[in-house]
Amino acid sequence: LNPHPRVRRLAAAFRIRPARRTDAARLIRRMRALAWFEGYLESFAVTRRELDRRAFGPNAQCAIEVAESVVSGCILGYAVILTTPYTYDLRPTLTLKELFVEPDARGLGVGTALMWAVAARATALSAGRLRWDVMPGNARAETFYQSLGGRRVDNWIPYVMDASALRELAASRPKATRKQPRRRPRIEPRPARGR
Ligand SMILES: CC(C)(COP(=O)(O)OP(=O)(O)OC[C@H]1O[C@@H](n2cnc3c(N)ncnc32)[C@H](O)[C@@H]1OP(=O)(O)O)[C@@H](O)C(=O)NCCC(=O)NCCS
Repeated sequence: LNPHPRVRRLAAAFRIRPARRTDAARLIRRMRALAWFEGYLESFAVTRRELDRRAFGPNAQCAIEVAESVVSGCILGYAVILTTPYTYDLRPTLTLKELFVEPDARGLGVGTALMWAVAARATALSAGRLRWDVMPGNARAETFYQSLGGRRVDNWIPYVMDASALRELAASRPKATRKQPRRRPRIEPRPARGR
């Protein structure tokens, strides 16, 4: 794959690489910054230990790419990718769960380079698509994604069920699935014996 021209311009300033265990603390700081930016900081629960468990090693549940400054070694941005192994066309769907670039490093091609790495992963897996959500009002991100070939999805309505709605539904077991009480065997009156 050829890097996007925007990236080539700045290729000397940073590199894209898969995240390592030693990045965990720095990644969490940036994840918190994204949580603040997107307004769910009070629910943010990722810890270093959990990230270590979920993002690295043979049982990793996600992949993370980082952009690292060649000069300072700072993490300038990161992308978290989830893989759904297959869907109707039997091809994987990749989900861009998080994309974040440090405010001072924005507009320099870092986000584009991260998206390029995500696209390379998707292509290597023969993914059928990459999907993600954008908060309403995040016009900058929309411009950014559209400039890379992303398009808004108009033919699907996103739905979610939060934990309390799930608990409520799980507790209200549909009648038809409840264990039916055993029917009492009907006791037929014995035929009267002839006297
Ligand atoms: C969206 C984001 C990841 C983009 O990363 P980035 O490193 O700034 O993007 P790049 O420099 O690679 O791309 C630049 C492109 O983004 C858009 N862009 C960059 N700065 C912009 C600005 N100030 N206003 C509008 N569009 C802008 C343009 O399309 C620009 O293309 P151009 O350089 O050809 O004009 C980054 O702004 C960010 O982290 N924002 C906060 C978190 C966020 O919104 N994440 C996405 C969640 S869905």
